[in-house]
Amino acid sequence: MDPSGIAEQDDGGYTVRPLGVDDRETAVTVINSAAEWYRDFLPPEEVPGPEMTPAEWDAEASRMTWYGIFAGTQLLGVMGLEYVREVALLRHAYVAPDHQRRGVGRLLHSHVEGLVAGVERIVVGTYAANHKARRALETSGYRLSADSETVLRAYYDIDEDRLVSSVTYEKRVGD
Ligand SMILES: CC(C)(COP(=O)(O)OP(=O)(O)OC[C@H]1O[C@@H](n2cnc3c(N)ncnc32)[C@H](O)[C@@H]1OP(=O)(O)O)[C@@H](O)C(=O)NCCC(=O)NCCS
Repeated sequence: MDPSGIAEQDDGGYTVRPLGVDDRETAVTVINSAAEWYRDFLPPEEVPGPEMTPAEWDAEASRMTWYGIFAGTQLLGVMGLEYVREVALLRHAYVAPDHQRRGVGRLLHSHVEGLVAGVERIVVGTYAANHKARRALETSGYRLSADSETVLRAYYDIDEDRLVSSVTYEKRVGD
């Protein structure tokens, strides 16, 4: 694998590559369709609108690298890799609902995880009630942080509502 992550990788018919501005519209559609799942466990007032707008996608792209997993030309899932001081954050993992539970998220996650370099720790945040994401992280070898709030305050720029309803998981690079 190209350590820059710029090269494409074929894996079981799927391709993972960094996303650019031309992918923004499709990526935002994937994110917002997958994020509909939050309505299953969040109170309605905490799901006020789309999870991400195109402008927010651009703002995130200025800090981190977006990756996408494709079947042919169809974008199935996205994830962001952001470095904040001594850790790598894997953020915004979303797989289109019609393609979930087929190993797509795990493949994208392990590809992006394999690109992490120069830090010793990977951190992932999620809603405490998001049992799908928590199970995915636990089966991928992540451990719940001893103090999620401190980790969230140290590495994330999130509002208080989301902070109090979130947890973080961690893994040492290479584990
Ligand atoms: C979380 C998500 C990205 C996982 O992607 P996916 O392609 O469905 O996941 P995979 O098929 O690779 O499954 C990986 C593991 O996730 C867990 N998982 C996935 N879907 C699950 C479900 N419906 N219920 C319980 N566990 C689930 C399982 O541990 C699974 O491994 P297993 O099938 O061997 O048991 C996807 O479900 C999604 O987009 N969810 C909505 C948005 C979201 O919650 N994003 C996370 C933000 S942190």
